[in-house]
Amino acid sequence: MHVPASPLRDGDPVYLDHNATTPVDPRVVKAMLPFLTSGFGNPSSGHAYGTAPRAALARARRQVAALLGSRTGEPDGTHEPDGADGADRIVFTGSGSEANNLALRGALLAADGRRRRVITQATEHPAVLETCRALHRLHGAEVTWLPVDRRGLVDPADLAAALDDRTAVVSVMAANNETGTLQPVADLARLAHDHGALFHCDAAQAAGKIPLDARALGADLLTLVGHKMYAPKGVAALHVRAGVRLEPLVYGGGQEGGLRAGTENVALAVALGTAAVLAAEDLAGGGARRVGELRDRLHRRLTEALPGRVHLNGCDRRLPNTLNVSIDGVTGQALLDAAPGVAASTGSACHSGTTAPSPVLSAMGLDDTRALAAVRLSLGRWTTAADVDRAARALIGAAHALTPVASGAGRAARL
Ligand SMILES: Cc1ncc(COP(=O)(O)O)c(C=O)c1O
Repeated sequence: MHVPASPLRDGDPVYLDHNATTPVDPRVVKAMLPFLTSGFGNPSSGHAYGTAPRAALARARRQVAALLGSRTGEPDGTHEPDGADGADRIVFTGSGSEANNLALRGALLAADGRRRRVITQATEHPAVLETCRALHRLHGAEVTWLPVDRRGLVDPADLAAALDDRTAVVSVMAANNETGTLQPVADLARLAHDHGALFHCDAAQAAGKIPLDARALGADLLTLVGHKMYAPKGVAALHVRAGVRLEPLVYGGGQEGGLRAGTENVALAVALGTAAVLAAEDLAGGGARRVGELRDRLHRRLTEALPGRVHLNGCDRRLPNTLNVSIDGVTGQALLDAAPGVAASTGSACHSGTTAPSPVLSAMGLDDTRALAAVRLSLGRWTTAADVDRAARALIGAAHALTPVASGAGRAARL
């Protein structure tokens, strides 16, 4: 695939934070712009101005579905958005958080009244965790939180033990945003279905980075997010398997198959559709392998220069672009502060001035020192070998500069 020049500027810090958000691909910008100018019409309008936006919206749904090995209705887009024709559906939303809210709240409230249980796991994104808490608080749902092991993996036996015929929905992510750990989604979905429960998969991080097939995974509901796959922020989608019933999230004029009312943002839908096409081309062209090799080169550079001090958080079963490591003797924040030429993130969340260890790493059983040392380095479409080498040099230099910690002098208070 011909990849256009990087939208990143020469001389800026090396961008290794693609799991936080990706740059927007220039081809995505080009595809969406006409719908901010001459193609401004409302896709529901019966007159000429509605025609092109309506067709673009239908095409975008098919493009997003195709990335997931699925089809939404006929090639001309004349399907029933509410799934009445037995087709899978793509529901555009304003964020991944919104898609997760729609999936979980929608599934619980539409379930047979006897099914009041939701099962999820400890390292989900807050968009799932907080939704589950709200379903408990507002709708009396019983929530079961499955643990993960040291690699960040859910044990299917734990799900099997938790499931019963009162379970409405099980939600387990495809890939973790901090470690990239890939959950055994197909096995978990099969277990959920054995008990008549729906299975939701938050694939915000996995979509576009690894091949995904919604049916093969057994996902009744699957979330993907534009700004993690080279589209702008503010657009995401929920893939809804044919026949799955959900309570709407936004009531109103019936857009998005009645699940999310509001005049459609055609430009952003087109952006997500285009990003999905580009992601499929990238995967077919070996993009994941290329990024994986660069990620491993970065890991090698760090371990060779800092022997015995670099510890992988997570496991080999992970996204090809993600490297989460803790370096002995430094905190992740101190390391990144001392390496301003690298834009990456720590595994920790900073709340009102106190740096807390990442709940994801803590749930994996890592102690506070190890969790506070974590840095997440996530590569992307325009990352080069030169970028990786530059970032490695900066991080190694920073670790050496901070090394008094390793010898126990002076900086221990920073850990
Ligand atoms: C796994 C996962 N789920 C959901 C989200 C939320 O997406 P959004 O920021 O579009 O709400 C993110 C974003 O960080 C994510 O990494």
